[in-house]
Order: sequence, then C-alpha cells, then structure tokens
Amino acid sequence: MLVIRKFEDDDALEASDLIRKTLSEENSKFYPNSVIDYMSNEYSPKFLIELSKEREFFVAVANTKIIGTITIIDDYIGTVFVNPEHHNKGIGTKLMETIENLVREKRIKNLRLESSINAVEFYEKLGYNKKEKKDDRDYGITYIMTKKL
Ligand SMILES: CC(C)(COP(=O)(O)OP(=O)(O)OC[C@H]1O[C@@H](n2cnc3c(N)ncnc32)[C@H](O)[C@@H]1OP(=O)(O)O)[C@@H](O)C(=O)NCCC(=O)NCCS
Repeated sequence: MLVIRKFEDDDALEASDLIRKTLSEENSKFYPNSVIDYMSNEYSPKFLIELSKEREFFVAVANTKIIGTITIIDDYIGTVFVNPEHHNKGIGTKLMETIENLVREKRIKNLRLESSINAVEFYEKLGYNKKEKKDDRDYGITYIMTKKL
C-alpha cells in the first residue's frame, strides 16, 4: 500500500539515497555528468533536513520503503523524485495531487516548478504549461512550468 506522509529527520538517509539513485539511473540519460554530480552532491541527508525546515516535504512510502519525494514552498513545487523501479505506476501523480490539494486549501491559485528535460511530458499530462527555458551551469537545462488551479 502506498502512503504519502510528511518527511521526518530519520528519513534523510533513505530519501537522499533514493534521489541519488534516480539522478544516476534516470536523469543521467539526459544530463551531463557535471550536472548529475553537482546535484548528487547537493542532495545529502543534511541538505534534506535543512530543506524540510524551509519547505513542506512529503515522502511516498510503500512497504516501509521511501520510493518518492516532493516539496513545496509557497507556490513552488520541487524535489520531485520517484525511484526508477517504481516509475509509471502513478506514484509521481499521487505526490503532485497531494501538493495540489494542500495548496488549494491555502487558496493558492497558481503553481510553478522547474522541470528537468525528462519530466516535461509528465507535468504536461498533469496540466502544467511549459514557459521559458533556463540553462544553468550547475543544474543544466530546465523549463519553468506553471499551472492555474
Ligand atoms: C518524472 C517522474 C517524477 C514521474 O514519476 P512517475 O511515478 O513515473 O509518474 P506517473 O506514473 O504518475 O506518470 C503519469 C503520466 O506521466 C507519464 N510520464 C511519467 N514520466 C514520464 C517521462 N519521463 N516521460 C514521458 N512521460 C512520462 C506516464 O507515462 C503517465 O502517463 P499516462 O497517465 O498516460 O499513463 C519520474 O519519472 C522521476 O522521478 N524522474 C526522474 C527525476 C526527475 O527528473 N524529476 C523531476 C524533477 S523536476
């Protein structure tokens, strides 16, 4: 059974491992090593604990294992990662729905995010529109995407 719950400090190591695995197995097909290395380095357990103090942070858990992550601060969604072994089973959609329900309760009307090259189609299916393209030395190419709720 899939449960989506708030991140706790004790999740940090497992969540960091999941993000690093996803970067190395999935995002690496679309990004140079320099970007993957930069991001893998950034997403340490310590960084995730710091992130959870600034943002609302949720994890998807199946059979006691963390298989997905997502964060939100104000109208900005980030840290969307699903373990590649569980891709295309609706986990990413459930994480996004959790966040959208949360912001609706706060009467936030617009959402924004920065999509990786590989995730654009996923977000388009959820109603997000591609805006400008960014090319950052550390994070590589991303697309600003927005959705009106
Ligand atoms: C993007 C990601 C979160 C999607 O998670 P997921 O659990 O596999 O997504 P879902 O199963 O909910 O997919 C929903 C729909 O999007 C489609 N989809 C998902 N990932 C896709 C991709 N990379 N390319 C094209 N379509 C995709 C699915 O086929 C599905 O379509 P359907 O409704 O027609 O069946 C996941 O692929 C991932 O972790 N990618 C690597 C990390 C990343 O780049 N995250 C985004 C950071 S901005």
